[in-house]
Amino acid sequence: MKIIRAKDYYDMSRKAANIISAQVIMKPNCVLGLATGGTPVGIYKQLVEWYNKDDIDFSEVTTVNLDEYRGLPREHPESYWSFMHRNLFDLVNIRPERINLPDGTNLDAAAECARYDYVIQRVGGIDLQLLGIGHDGHIGFNEPGSAFELGTHCVDLTEETIEANKRFFASKEEVPRQAYTMGIKTIMQARKVLLVANGAGKAEIIKRAFFGPVTPEVPASILQMHPDCTIVLDAEAASLI
Ligand code: PGA
Repeated sequence: MKIIRAKDYYDMSRKAANIISAQVIMKPNCVLGLATGGTPVGIYKQLVEWYNKDDIDFSEVTTVNLDEYRGLPREHPESYWSFMHRNLFDLVNIRPERINLPDGTNLDAAAECARYDYVIQRVGGIDLQLLGIGHDGHIGFNEPGSAFELGTHCVDLTEETIEANKRFFASKEEVPRQAYTMGIKTIMQARKVLLVANGAGKAEIIKRAFFGPVTPEVPASILQMHPDCTIVLDAEAASLI
């Protein structure tokens, strides 16, 4: 586990974008595992800027996203499909057929999760998985108590996550109650992991996850066991370590 301290959100975003960019330069046909949420927006912005300067080429890249709300139409502005198209896919030369997300519109959870695990396997596994971290230590939608050995599965969102995500919806009632997510097993099988966090609100969970015991109660803590995990933090998120 390597911890990189950045000055602020902008610096965190640039450092993380540099790591992703290096991955794409080293292996142009790599598989990037991507994440949504507030934290990675600055990373995608930076990658788009470099793409516009001809410094990064996504033409051979394949992507697999971490998660998607179950039951939300793709076109809904808060679906992760929409988020990714708005923040990255529509702005760079990634090929639509190489973009993969769980299909939240397939309500058959068992079939959809099996399909997504097969997609990840078929593309050869994930070279670099980008992650944010929830205030409760979740990664993807793997909430506290999630078994470490799960592949893609359907989860009920915790009250805390619904509360944290309601800022993106007109009301709390509109926040979907379930999601499909890669499991901890899937994430741990990625060849590299890059976790990013910023802001004072994440300082406590960063300390618990990476300087406390490895436990399913703090899902991100398992990353202490990953052979190639890099964590990029701004000064506030790193303030308790
Ligand atoms: P955030 O979410 O980037 O919006 O803080 C992180 C997460 O819940 O994984």
